[in-house]
Amino acid sequence: MTSLADRPVNPVVGLTVSHESADLHVTGAALYTDDLVVRTPAALHAWPLQAPHAHARITSMRVDPAYDVDGVVKVLTAADVPGVNDAGIHHDEPLFPTEARYFGHAVCWVLGETLDAARRGAEAIEVEYETLPSLLTLSEAIAAGSFQGAQPTVSRGDAAGALQRAPRRFTGEFEFGGQEHFYLETHAALAHVDEAGQVFVHSSTQHPTETQEIVAHVLGLTSAEVTVQQLRMGGGFGGKEMQPHGLAAVAALGAVLTGRPVRLRLTRTQDMTMTGKRHPFHATWEVGFDEEGRILALQATITADGGWSLDLSQAVLGRALCHIDNAYFIPDIEVLGRIARTNKTSQTAFRGFGGPQGMLVIEDILGRCAPALGIDPGELRSRNFYEPGQATPYGQPVRHAERLHEIWEQLTDRADIARRQAAVAEFNETHAHVKRGLAMTPVKFGISFNLTAFNQAGALVHVYKDGSVLINHGGTEMGQGLYTKMRQVAATALGVPLTAIRHVPTRTDKVPNTSATAASSGADLNGGAIKNACEQIRERLAEVAARKLNIHPDDVRFVDGKVTGIGFTDTEMSFAEVVRAAYLQRVPLFAAGYYRTEGLHWDSARMQGEPFKYFAYGAAATEVEVDGFTGAYRFLRTDIVHDVGDSLSPLIDIGQIEGGFVQGAGWLTLEELRWDVSDGPGRGRLATQGASTYKLPSFSEMPEQLNVHLYERATESGVVYGSKAVGEPPLMLAFSVREALRQAAMAFGPADHVLELASPATPEAVFWAVQDARAAADGPATAEDARADAAPGPVEDADNLGLVASGDAVAAGRDGRLAHAGGGFTGHGDGAVDTGHRTVGAGAAGSGATVARASDG
Ligand code: MTE
Ligand code: MOS
Repeated sequence: MTSLADRPVNPVVGLTVSHESADLHVTGAALYTDDLVVRTPAALHAWPLQAPHAHARITSMRVDPAYDVDGVVKVLTAADVPGVNDAGIHHDEPLFPTEARYFGHAVCWVLGETLDAARRGAEAIEVEYETLPSLLTLSEAIAAGSFQGAQPTVSRGDAAGALQRAPRRFTGEFEFGGQEHFYLETHAALAHVDEAGQVFVHSSTQHPTETQEIVAHVLGLTSAEVTVQQLRMGGGFGGKEMQPHGLAAVAALGAVLTGRPVRLRLTRTQDMTMTGKRHPFHATWEVGFDEEGRILALQATITADGGWSLDLSQAVLGRALCHIDNAYFIPDIEVLGRIARTNKTSQTAFRGFGGPQGMLVIEDILGRCAPALGIDPGELRSRNFYEPGQATPYGQPVRHAERLHEIWEQLTDRADIARRQAAVAEFNETHAHVKRGLAMTPVKFGISFNLTAFNQAGALVHVYKDGSVLINHGGTEMGQGLYTKMRQVAATALGVPLTAIRHVPTRTDKVPNTSATAASSGADLNGGAIKNACEQIRERLAEVAARKLNIHPDDVRFVDGKVTGIGFTDTEMSFAEVVRAAYLQRVPLFAAGYYRTEGLHWDSARMQGEPFKYFAYGAAATEVEVDGFTGAYRFLRTDIVHDVGDSLSPLIDIGQIEGGFVQGAGWLTLEELRWDVSDGPGRGRLATQGASTYKLPSFSEMPEQLNVHLYERATESGVVYGSKAVGEPPLMLAFSVREALRQAAMAFGPADHVLELASPATPEAVFWAVQDARAAADGPATAEDARADAAPGPVEDADNLGLVASGDAVAAGRDGRLAHAGGGFTGHGDGAVDTGHRTVGAGAAGSGATVARASDG
């Protein structure tokens, strides 16, 4: 018996192959859900009517005028729903609401012969609203006590007592921003109904089974009457884990009511204003260290901004709580988690799923406290790494903790840290207005769904008489390369070349009851199931071949499309010959595979157990350069050492590491969601509705040098072919960028000055951090004095300015300045250098930088 991790001779896993659709991607031939519409005659187009209020009761809705518009076929309202009028799994998400719960909430949908007809139809509908009070910011929600869902606590030991006894104590507060998924393909669905009433929905979904279930409950059908197919996604990043369901249900409802195919695809603006994003978080904390900088205790309350409904917020919060330790052993700890309910889009899964938010809290704490402790931040971090034998606050032993130390050392070497730290110091001494920073941060990320039941998968493998192989499983392809890896797994398990394996799109009538492709577990779970299916077939084929070769079935070898016996070199058959023989002997040539992750248990009420199969580890070192006049910065170089176990597909894995890292850097530096928080008529409107105002990282924001190294000899036992998940963990390598920016800004002031940095650390935020550092240089010399000084007067002012000013920014947005500012941060300053800088900078201060202050407690 071989184990799950063992690789046979000449495995196809581990080979450097390009993405299975790479050619199609670059030539534009790859089909996405919405491309199917041109192949679908008579399809109708759907357009939403979006509410213009953050919170309002619908007092009347007159849809008749829509029907006077040429080409309008049907207006879908709550009255049309035959089943349950709800798009979620918690029954807190009415599909056709009686109350608009956020600015942009779709209150009804219009179907038209053309998209334009549907749009004009929606404009003709007359809706009257009675506006209601709304909560937009986390602070507003916290002050109003507006929460939703459970409030779990993760704890170990006696945090309060340990804090009391800790020789060094600090407190702080930190509020940081969310993130727009900005997948290139916006949400899309295409539904039709066959002559027997079977509903078929193409959906750009990470969770076809749940899309199927919600379509079924909205339509009042059974799951067996609904099929969902997912062709491929142009990115999901978690945004298509829960949010596609209601949209697919609208398309399906339209198809059932009209008998015609219905296509629904959100425009970019609709996608940004209607669908959920990464959760912003607020944290208050108190931390205790010993004299050597070892963390003794942490007490914190973290609050996620869940938006108007729960969707995945509880799970996201759970993962945030399970990752607030990141790579660090915290002996006594108590962290309370809460979810605020606000009048915004319903915030949802986003790469890392709360993990990044939890980890940002502790990384920010260490970045802030290092100068006060007088310890180099990198040293402070590594001093607190888990040691083998230690367990997380929720009671899971940290297996392979030694890898953290090894990866850190390798990175220190590979990135030449000692020499470059000296070079940075020298650079900073000789440059008054430009400073550099170099920072290293670690990642430890738990792999598996916290919800144990999700850790199962199915696959369906067919071998045809000619020896060709068709595979299918419950995982979805969103660009991450899952299909590529699954082809490599199947080829390896069957001992055939990669070209023999055909992968077909994921659909719920092939493999049922699947989990979302999420939690980075796609390859682990579906790979286990594919391997299992292939092995069933291979074992049957081995019997057939053994009879032909006159040997024991255990001694049959399948390698590179040839079937031989151990030590046989003279007799060999092709895979296809054995397959044909098996068919003639009436041996079945297809199999359903199944995999469940062993050894998991999780008590979500007590927040204790072993929810993760293993941890993925990594570390990054980033060097940046900051301009002291503007706060503008460049990413000079990033080095990464990351643990993917024994890679299933190195090119794919490196792509995931680079992509995850850059996406994380975007979240932490450039990507800033701004909402109108004024009391004007635009209250609650998302001000950043497109690429013109929402700045995404692109090639120009890649580090000028980016070196990715896969940690070697890293076999992960108990996972398919010894590999590890890679989808999400690398995003958190981007903490190194943020901490490098902090280091660079700190270089403008005294070394022991505690420097706070808003998140996202936009150039404006960095500018204010530099100002803060410079002010400290003119002020008192010691850390203790600096903090005492920072406490009363000036900070309060900055805070007030922040609130007033962020109102101004939005006002500017409404009268067009922000909206027309063009791309990126030049835009923010454009036209109103003074207001631009102040508003954005001070706004950022309000959202964390200056309010949040590390002070000796
Ligand atoms: N990579 C690409 N190109 N596009 C995506 O949408 N999603 C990420 C990650 N990498 C994503 C991606 C997220 S959020 C997850 S959970 C994993 O891929 C899911 O796929 P996996 O489990 O197969 O790694
Ligand atoms: Mo990823 S956030 O788990 O879809």
